[in-house]
This record gives sequence, structure tokens and C-alpha cells, in this order.
Amino acid sequence: MYDLSGRVAIITGGASGMGRAASLLFAQAGANVVVADLNDADGEEVAQLASESGNEAVFQLTDVSAEPDIEAMIARATDTFGRLDVLFNNAGIGGAIGPLEDVSVEDWDRTQAVCLRGVFLGMKHAAAPMRAAGGGSIISTSSTGGLEGATGLFSYCAAKAGVAHLTRCAALEFARDLIRVNCIAPGGISTPILFGINGGDKEQVDANLERFQPYPRAGQPRDIADAALFLASDASEFITGHTLVVDGGATAGPRMAVPKPGRKRRTRFAGPSFERPADKGD
Ligand SMILES: NC(=O)c1ccc[n+]([C@@H]2O[C@H](COP(=O)([O-])OP(=O)(O)OC[C@H]3O[C@@H](n4cnc5c(N)ncnc54)[C@H](O)[C@@H]3O)[C@@H](O)[C@H]2O)c1
Repeated sequence: MYDLSGRVAIITGGASGMGRAASLLFAQAGANVVVADLNDADGEEVAQLASESGNEAVFQLTDVSAEPDIEAMIARATDTFGRLDVLFNNAGIGGAIGPLEDVSVEDWDRTQAVCLRGVFLGMKHAAAPMRAAGGGSIISTSSTGGLEGATGLFSYCAAKAGVAHLTRCAALEFARDLIRVNCIAPGGISTPILFGINGGDKEQVDANLERFQPYPRAGQPRDIADAALFLASDASEFITGHTLVVDGGATAGPRMAVPKPGRKRRTRFAGPSFERPADKGD
């Protein structure tokens, strides 16, 4: 496992899904953790569970869209643990759902405020304590919806594209301070955000996601936590400005291009187009 011994990490959206998995994993990897979320009941529980790994974890009630809350969140890390090394800007909502022509300005703005402004505010206020610590790693959660077009989640997809581009810009800004800035673009991952948007429970969402991408199982929160741990650790020291896609191959190409298991396929060689492709036999 990658090592975060002696490091201090903040994880927003830490009460649930990917943030929960990352909070527990980062604590196991040796970090002291600030779990930041709007959901205090689940956030307190995650902090308690993370503390059981032997490292310290605390919960900080935070609305990532509010600048005073982000300032208080960063101060909680530096006041409690004396430094800040890692910020995982992961909190998010689905936001405005439906046809583009029906999206209200208010719902558009609320989506942007959480999914994009929250990431900007995290970067803005994490930079100074990371600089003081001699460097750091800022990781944010984008989405494959921010890389490829999708309908029905217009403000969300635009915000997630913004996260990927802001990541590149911030990586340039902070490189000389040894602060690395990367993001993760998850595909469909089985977390409560999908239970809410698509309806159904984890079992149904898992079954749907199994068919969603070429790799034949549902994406799980731990898949994203593992990627975040890599980006948080020194193992990724020369990586900055990068968007790490973690999607079981969903954006690698169309799913219909995936060969069906057990189906016999012909082996041929296609030479110059005036010749017919030659059969290579068995
Ligand atoms: N699950 C997926 O398929 C998927 C795919 C791509 C990207 N994402 C992104 O991954 C991130 C994590 O989501 P998840 O799937 O774990 O969902 P989740 O709902 O389980 O976790 C999101 C957490 O963010 C918190 N949150 C929401 N608004 C907040 C705010 N204003 N301030 C602080 N906390 C807030 C929620 O309370 C929740 O604990 C989100 O940014 C989401 O957009 C999810």
C-alpha cells in the first residue's frame, strides 16, 4: 500500500461513497484525516471508524460551496494536526437533472457552486499551508461526464469539465511550490449518489453498472480511493495536471467493440485495399 505516514489529509464529501472509502484508506495508510461533509451523522461515524486504524481523524461540518466553511476546514487541519499535505476535493451532487431547456438558473448555479466553486475554493485555501509544509497534493473528483458529452446532467457535466481544466491551470500555478494538482474522472461507481439519481438500492445499481462498461463488474468506491491514494502519495511525485480516468474502460471505446467471451473470430491480414483480406486459417 502507498504510504502516507505523518501526512495530514482533508477529504471533502468524506461521509459517503468514494470520500468515505478514501477517508478510511488514507487513515490506514498512515495519514491523520479531516473528514469534511454536510452530513454530520455519517461524517462523525467515518471519522470514528478511521480513528480505529490507529491514526487520528476528526469530522468538520463543511459546505464546500461556502468560502468561510472552506477556510474553517483548512484551519481545522492545521490547528488540529499542525500542517496540511493532501486535499481531496471530492464532495459533489448530481444537481440539475432534465432537459436543457427546463434547467433553471438557480439549479444551474447551485450545481456549479458545489461541483466547481467548491473545488476552486479548496485549491485557493489549501495552497498556503501546503506551501508552508514544503509541498502537497491536491486531488479533485471530476467525472467521465466531464470528458464526454451526456444529456440530462448539463450543469454537472460542465462543472466536471471545469474541474479537469482548472486542475491543469492550477498545476501550472503551483508546480514551483511542489504542490501537485490532479483529478480523477470516475465512470459509473456504485455509491449513494446513484441510488438517489437512478433509484434503487446498491444491488440494483451494481447489476446495472456491471453492464455499463467493458470491465465486467461494477465500479466501487474503493477503486477511486485507491487512485486517490496513489495521487496523494510520493509514488506519483512527477505527476501533475493529470486527469486519471478510472472507469473500467467505459471511455476507451464503444462497448459494442468488446469481443464476446467464447465467440470464435476469424484471423485475417488486411493488406493493400485492391487485395481481399487473406484468411490466416486457425
Ligand atoms: N458515483 C458515480 O458514479 C460518480 C461518477 C463520477 C463522478 N462522481 C463524483 O464523485 C464524487 C463523490 O460522489 P459519490 O459518488 O461518492 O457520492 P456520495 O453522494 O456517496 O458522496 C458525496 C458526498 O458529498 C457530500 N456533499 C454534497 N454536497 C456537499 C457540500 N455542499 N459540501 C460538503 N459536502 C457535500 C455528500 O453529503 C456526500 O457525503 C462527487 O464529486 C461526484 O460528483 C461520482
